[in-house]
Amino acid sequence: MACHGLVRKQVGPGFAQIAARYRNDPGAPTQLATKIRNGSVGNWGRVIMPRQSRVTDSDAKALAEWVLSQPSPP
Ligand code: HEM
Repeated sequence: MACHGLVRKQVGPGFAQIAARYRNDPGAPTQLATKIRNGSVGNWGRVIMPRQSRVTDSDAKALAEWVLSQPSPP
């Protein structure tokens, strides 16, 4: 939560911004779950999201689905 706001950008994009970008992308739950575990860079800017290696596969899937369920930013 130090890095992601629920709505707006902090270090990384707000969860509502991520949900809005991938709203119509059926592959998003799986792709974002992989990125949560492996880390990511270059999709939102040049800041790196470090890998979250203690997050299990099934927890990453649950987190990705929760992120994607956020309502669009106001
Ligand atoms: C379990 C905790 C976390 C979850 C569930 C999470 C989730 C996400 C998701 C779903 C994305 C979008 C990836 C994409 O669009 O390809 C993202 C991007 C990002 N996150 Fe996180 N994140 C977590 C922890 C963190 C932490 C700890 C940091 C900062 C140290 C961080 C910084 C970033 C940044 C900078 C991006 C943009 C990366 C890019 O441009 O590709 N995240 N995060």
